[in-house]
Amino acid sequence: ERVVLAYSGGLDTSVCIGWIAEETGAEVIAVAVDVGQGGEDLEAIRKRALACGAVEAEVADARDEFADEYCLPAIKANARYMDQYPLVSSLSRPVIAKHLVAAAKKHGATTVAHGCTGKGNDQVRFEVGIASLAPELTCIAPVRDYAMTRDKAIAFAEANSLPIATTKKSPYSIDQNVFGRAVETGFLEDIWNGPIEDVYEYTQDPAVPREADEVVITFRSGVPVALDGRPVTVLQAIEELNRRAGAQGVGRIDMVEDRLVGIKSREIYEAPGAIALITAHAELENVTVERELARYKRQVEQRWAELVYDGLWFSPLKRALDGFVEEANQYVSGDIRMTLHGGRAVVTGRRSDTSLYDFNLATYDSGDTFDQSQAKGFIEIFGLSSKIAAGRDLTQ
Ligand code: ARG
Ligand code: SIN
Repeated sequence: ERVVLAYSGGLDTSVCIGWIAEETGAEVIAVAVDVGQGGEDLEAIRKRALACGAVEAEVADARDEFADEYCLPAIKANARYMDQYPLVSSLSRPVIAKHLVAAAKKHGATTVAHGCTGKGNDQVRFEVGIASLAPELTCIAPVRDYAMTRDKAIAFAEANSLPIATTKKSPYSIDQNVFGRAVETGFLEDIWNGPIEDVYEYTQDPAVPREADEVVITFRSGVPVALDGRPVTVLQAIEELNRRAGAQGVGRIDMVEDRLVGIKSREIYEAPGAIALITAHAELENVTVERELARYKRQVEQRWAELVYDGLWFSPLKRALDGFVEEANQYVSGDIRMTLHGGRAVVTGRRSDTSLYDFNLATYDSGDTFDQSQAKGFIEIFGLSSKIAAGRDLTQ
C-alpha cells in the first residue's frame, strides 16, 4: 500500500508523512512540484521528506509547463475571478494534480494525499482534478480527514524530532507561485483591518515616490513573446514583469471573495506580472478583436475564471471554452507600451499589423472616410423599436 503526498516542505505536510503512515500503515512517497514558488531549495525539501519518513521523495520542475499550459490560457482569457483575482492558486492545483497522478502511476500508489483543510477551495481543485485524470485513485486529506490541527501537528513534530522549525509560526496562510501570491488568515480575518506592509513580498509599497518604468510587451496570437524587443518565454515574461511591475507596487489586491464551499473569505493577493500581462493583453484585444466577438468573449472570460476557480480545470465545459478563447486570440498580435508606476500598469500605446483600428474612419480631421450622411438613416432604423414602444408607453 503506497500513498503519494503533495509535499511543500512546511510543517503540515512534513507531519502528514508520519501521520498518514500511522493512520493507514501505508508507505508515503513525497512529491514536491516547483511552480515558481521560490524560497527554499527543492533538493533540501526532498531530503527533509526522506528525513520525515517518506520512502521516496521527488521534485518536479514544472515552471515552464505551469507558465505555458496554465498561466498562458489565463492571460488569453484575461481571467480574473470576481473581476479581480487572477486565479494564482487556482491555476497551480491542476498542474500539481497532474504530477501527483503521474507519480502515483509510477510508484504503484492507489491513494493521493494533500495538506488542505476542509474549508477551502484547494481541496476541491486537487480532488476533482485527480478524479478527472485518474478516477481509480482515492484521495485523503489528513488535516481534514484525521483532524490534524496545528497544535497536534507541532506536538507530533516535536515528539518525533522531525527536522522542521515548529516555532517559526507565521500568522498567515500563504500560497505562492510564479503567477502571484495569496495571503490569508491572522489579523486579516477582521475585514475592517487594513493590510500592513509586512504582508507583501512580491510588491513594493506603491505610495513610495520613485521613477516610473516603461515596458513594451509584444504578443503573437495572444502569447507574450518579447519584452522591450527581447524574445522571452512565457515564464520569463511573467518573471521579469514580476520584478519590474512589483518594484512599482503593481498588482496588489485586497478583497472578500466567494469560496466554492459557500464561505466568504478575506484575501490579499499580489500578482504584478499577471496583472501587467492581462492589462496589456486585454488592451491589444481592444485593438484587434472584432466588436461582437469581443463582447461575447467577456462573458466567456467570466465563466472560464469561475470554472477554474471552482476546480473544474479538466472539465468538458472548460475545455470547450478554451477552444473559443484560442480562436478569439488568433489576431491578437502586436505591441503594447505600458507605464508601470504608483501601483498601476497603464497602457500608453498600441501598434499591430492585425489592428482593426482605422485612422481614416476614426479621425475628426480631414482625410475622414466615414460617410456621416449614412448615420442619420442608421439611427432612424436602429431606434425604431424603441420609438414605437415609447409611442405606446408614454400615452398609457
Ligand atoms: N483563496 C485563494 C484561492 O482559492 C487562495 C488560496 C490559497 N491557498 C492557501 N493554501 N493558502 O485560490
Ligand atoms: C485551505 O483551506 O486549505 C486553503 C485555502 C483554500 O483552499 O481556499
